[in-house]
Amino acid sequence: MSSSLGVAVIGAGMAGKAHAAAYRAATTVYSPVLPEIRLVSIADVYEPLAQETAARYGFSRADSDWRAIAAADDIDVVSVVVANSLHREIVEGLLTAGKHVLCEKPLSDTIEDARAMAEFAAAAQSRGLVARIGFSYLRSPGIAFLRQLIDDGRLGDLQHFSGRYWTDYGCRPDAPISWRYQGPAGSGALGDVGSHLSYLAEYLCGPVSEVSGGRFHTAITERPKPLGQVVGHTRGNVSEERSPVTNDDYATFNASFERCVGTLEVSRVAAGHPNDLVLEIFGSRGAARWSQTNPAQVEVMLHDELSDLVGYRTVPLGPAHPYYSGGWAMDAPGVGIGQNDLFVHQARAFLEEVAGIAEGQSLPRCRSFADGVHNMEFLAAVTESAAAGGSTVSVA
Ligand SMILES: NC(=O)c1ccc[n+]([C@@H]2O[C@H](COP(=O)([O-])OP(=O)(O)OC[C@H]3O[C@@H](n4cnc5c(N)ncnc54)[C@H](O)[C@@H]3O)[C@@H](O)[C@H]2O)c1
Repeated sequence: MSSSLGVAVIGAGMAGKAHAAAYRAATTVYSPVLPEIRLVSIADVYEPLAQETAARYGFSRADSDWRAIAAADDIDVVSVVVANSLHREIVEGLLTAGKHVLCEKPLSDTIEDARAMAEFAAAAQSRGLVARIGFSYLRSPGIAFLRQLIDDGRLGDLQHFSGRYWTDYGCRPDAPISWRYQGPAGSGALGDVGSHLSYLAEYLCGPVSEVSGGRFHTAITERPKPLGQVVGHTRGNVSEERSPVTNDDYATFNASFERCVGTLEVSRVAAGHPNDLVLEIFGSRGAARWSQTNPAQVEVMLHDELSDLVGYRTVPLGPAHPYYSGGWAMDAPGVGIGQNDLFVHQARAFLEEVAGIAEGQSLPRCRSFADGVHNMEFLAAVTESAAAGGSTVSVA
C-alpha cells in the first residue's frame, strides 16, 4: 500500500464541493486503516470558485484547467464532477496520465461515449488503475436495510415496488438555463435524478428486464440566460434573453425486475419537494419504505404483528443496521444522517479500493464503468418507450 494518496477534485460546483468535503472526512470514519490522504488540488474553469473551494476544504492549491491535475506528480486519485458531456474527455485524459478516477453519474451524456469510457477503463484496469462511478446512495444505511429485509425473507415474496425522486430545483420559470436543461430527451430529470432511482430500483428488486409506459413532459420550455456563474441549482440574476429547454422536466415509467414489477417517477419541477427520494417495497409478508427526507429511519410493517398493532412502525437506524457503527463521529441512533454523509462513505470506499484494502474489510466497492453503461442503457430504454408512445422495450 502507498504511504499516502494525493487527491484532487475537478469541478467545484454543487457536487464537487461534496466530493471535496468527503475526501477531507474519509479518514475520520471507521477504522484508521487508510494511508495518509493529501488534499492537493481543486480545479474549476471558474478560478475564484476553485480557489474558494480549495481554501474552504483545506486543499493545498487551486487549478483552472483539468490538464494541470493530469500532469501533477503529487496527485493519485481524482473525482470528476463536471457536466456529463465533459466526463469522457477528462476521464480519459486522467486515466492516460495514470490517475485513479471516480466519475460522477450518469457516466456521460451519450451512451456511445459511456461505452467508449468503459472500454478505456477496462484497458486502464490492466495497468492497475481504478475507474469507478459515483452511485452515492448505495451505502445509505436505510436503503441497505430495505435490501436486508428483502434478502432475509422478512418481507416475503416481493409484489411490487414504487420509487420516486421528486425535486423542485427547476420548478420556477426564472431558474436560469444551465447544462442540466439542454441535451437529448432523457437527459433531463431522468438522466439527473432518474440515474439514482434506476440503480436503486435494481439494487432492491434485481436486474431490470423491460420497461414500458415511458412518458416525458417538459413543463417549462424556455428559461432565462444567467448573468453570472450558475452553480448547481442556484438561482441568481438573469437576463431578458431566453434559451430553449430541450430535455425532460418530468418522466414516469413502469419496469419489470427479477423480483417484482414497479413504477418509477422523477421530476425537477415538483414544487415543495426539494430532494424527495422515496422507495417503497411491498411483499407477501409485509412492506417497508425509506425516504431521503428522514434518511435515518425506515418504516416497516409486518403481517405477523398482533392483529391490533398491524401497521407501519418507525425504526430509527443505529448500530444494528448496515454501515452505521463507526460511520459517523456520533454513531448512536437518532443522531441523524444526511446526503453529504453518503459522499464521505463513497470517497472512503473508493480510497479503500485504491489503497488495496481487502473487499471483505471495506465498504461496498464503488461500481464499475460497465455498471454506469448499464445504468444508461436502462434509461435509454425508457427514452425509447416514451418516443414510441409508452411501448414495452427490453433492457439488455
Ligand atoms: N451523486 C449526486 O448526488 C450528485 C448530485 C449533484 C450532481 N451530481 C453529478 O455531478 C456532476 C456535476 O454536477 P453539479 O451539480 O456539481 O454541476 P455544477 O454545474 O454545479 O458544477 C459544475 C462545475 O464544473 C465547472 N466546470 C465546467 N467546465 C469545466 C472544466 N472543463 N474543467 C473544470 N471545471 C469545469 C463549472 O465551472 C462548475 O463550477 C454531474 O455529473 C451531476 O450529474 C451528482
